[in-house]
Amino acid sequence: MATVSFDEVGKVYPDGTTAVTDLELEIPDGELLVFVGPSGCGKTTALRMVAGLERISHGEIRIDGRVVNDLPPKARDVAMIFQSYALYPHMTVFDNIAFPLRAQGMPRKEIRATVERVAERLGLAEHLDRRPGRLSGGQRQRVAMGRAIVRHPKVFAMDEPLSNLDAKLRGQMRVEVMALQRELGVTTIYVTHDQVEAMTMGHRIAVMRDGVLQQCGTPQEVFDRPANLFVAGFLGSPPMNLVAGRLERGREGLTCRIGDQALVLDPAPAGLEAHAGRDVTVGVRPEHLDAGPPGAAGLAASCRLVETLGSEQLVHAELPSGGGPIPVVARLDADRRLLPGEALTFTVRPDRLRFFDPETGRALDGAAEVAADERSRVGAAG
Ligand SMILES: Nc1ncnc2c1ncn2[C@@H]1O[C@H](COP(=O)(O)OP(=O)(O)O)[C@@H](O)[C@H]1O
Ligand SMILES: [Mg+2]
Repeated sequence: MATVSFDEVGKVYPDGTTAVTDLELEIPDGELLVFVGPSGCGKTTALRMVAGLERISHGEIRIDGRVVNDLPPKARDVAMIFQSYALYPHMTVFDNIAFPLRAQGMPRKEIRATVERVAERLGLAEHLDRRPGRLSGGQRQRVAMGRAIVRHPKVFAMDEPLSNLDAKLRGQMRVEVMALQRELGVTTIYVTHDQVEAMTMGHRIAVMRDGVLQQCGTPQEVFDRPANLFVAGFLGSPPMNLVAGRLERGREGLTCRIGDQALVLDPAPAGLEAHAGRDVTVGVRPEHLDAGPPGAAGLAASCRLVETLGSEQLVHAELPSGGGPIPVVARLDADRRLLPGEALTFTVRPDRLRFFDPETGRALDGAAEVAADERSRVGAAG
């Protein structure tokens, strides 16, 4: 078990591609940290640099305080788990799991006992004599996990390990991997492009874009207080509504003009007064919009389309605006019946709104606090 730290880590491939830029991150002992972001954002590169499969171009990576930049993969004690399983096809499940133990020179009897114990834990006990080709995808990934676990590595490095599985199995395996990680308490770096996987599995998630870390925090922090427009739009399904607005100080206090309407911010979120008179991008999660009757205080809207999801519904609506109607999506309980064309009013708690600088994309309020929060949390966790 170990801490892992990235200190201004950068990676430029020999062909000149910059894959990771100035990555600063501390992963406390026992944490499951998820790197998440769109394809090509540098997740795999960051992971492979920890495992020693890719050279580090700038900065330092430390495992348990020791700089590993020049250590070969073997000396780092990081167990990689790949999307492709990377099992030995000609070996049985037993031999695949036993492989690292044999390489360590563990006595035969001990190997048998260890492999059997791990296979039992992973539900593979009946398959020890089979070859990987005769196993399902989920079972193969369990064998790969088994092979990683028996080594008692300092760190697990998992690169999209569930991406080859169908949706249902992926959901099950997600829970299994989480349970196993929590049980073993091994520091784990998990890479995925799937935001649901990231949100559900990670103690913390690190959102990457174009090789640059955008935000790192608990899933709830990152979901509730995205640091910028990219993070706001990346997490959540459907994602946060992002609409143009303008903060104004009026008779009723601070308001936000959205389209043809002025939404009174009562109480106004702390620190927002200072931005009165500015154009902003307003973010609101579909989950945080509520529907009131026409005429209620809030944002008048007209319903365009309803997607029923069983217990909930996604209401696609429009806010009136001289510049053309502004589309918004709300996730509402299914019991409120809405018809296309119906008028309604969206209500929202002012503290649920996020405000961004439309030019830099950065959150206007709170972003600095979140970053400070994280620093203290990283120091305290473990
Ligand atoms: N061996 C390589 N040589 C050159 N460029 C690479 C290599 N591997 C990855 N890249 C590039 O580095 C960037 C990050 O890739 P990667 O770390 O694989 O992203 P992700 O895992 O987030 O999809 C991409 O632009 C990718 O094309
Ligand atoms: Mg990748």
